[in-house]
Amino acid sequence: MSAAARTLPRTRPARAAAAPARDGGLLWPANAALASATLLIAAAGGPPATGPTALAGVAALVLCLVPGNLRPLGRLGRCGPVRQLARRRRALGISAGLWWLAHAAAGLAEHFGVDGLARLAHPAPALGALALVILVALLATSTTAARRRLGRRWKPLQRLVWFAVPLGLAHAVLASLRAGDHVLTPATVGLAGLVVFAAAELWLRRRRGLGVPAHARLVAAGVLTALVLALV
Ligand code: HEM
Repeated sequence: MSAAARTLPRTRPARAAAAPARDGGLLWPANAALASATLLIAAAGGPPATGPTALAGVAALVLCLVPGNLRPLGRLGRCGPVRQLARRRRALGISAGLWWLAHAAAGLAEHFGVDGLARLAHPAPALGALALVILVALLATSTTAARRRLGRRWKPLQRLVWFAVPLGLAHAVLASLRAGDHVLTPATVGLAGLVVFAAAELWLRRRRGLGVPAHARLVAAGVLTALVLALV
């Protein structure tokens, strides 16, 4: 076997990781419609929308971030359904951003109202607002036109989502404590799962000599920022 042939299997994961993102068809428009319907039903006197919109946002974020980062790590990351999800990461990211917008609107309407603006001066909404600013910036630069305009800066910018995850997690924990609710909800566990995933991924990559991924540093920076903001 030639040296080139011997190195072929090693290069496959790298090529798979570069698989282009598909537009995802009706995925994000369907999520936009669902998020709007959830807000309208809540506004018409139905069940509150803050919790369900947070849960849908976390689900979309997990599906957007995990499959693409599983691919260099082993066989599971290269199986069909995981690759299909990884190719739809852009539509899933847009869906997550839309759900977060709906969540912020619901959170403000249901928990603060026009007369409760003073209650916004608390680490919980401040952390949520900071995470939201980042996620909305990423949403606004998700279009093909923005991607072309930003060129090589586009990917590092989109990676900032990993910085927003610990901020969202700290916000969720503090908001639940403040509302007197359980902290261990599926949405909070999902965000915590993303931080744990980043740590496990870092450990696995280092064991395989794959180096430290940029997003691991962003998660660490996000955890530090969240701790500082939560304690001030
Ligand atoms: C200005 C922006 C935001 C506002 C006003 C806001 C408001 C709130 C409020 C009031 C709650 C408490 C709900 C309850 O316990 O009943 C909450 C929970 C939560 N928020 Fe936010 N939020 C914002 C942004 C975000 C962002 C950007 C994220 C994610 C990155 C996020 C993730 C969560 C999660 C996961 C929960 C817990 C929901 C649950 O456990 O059911 N929030 N938010």
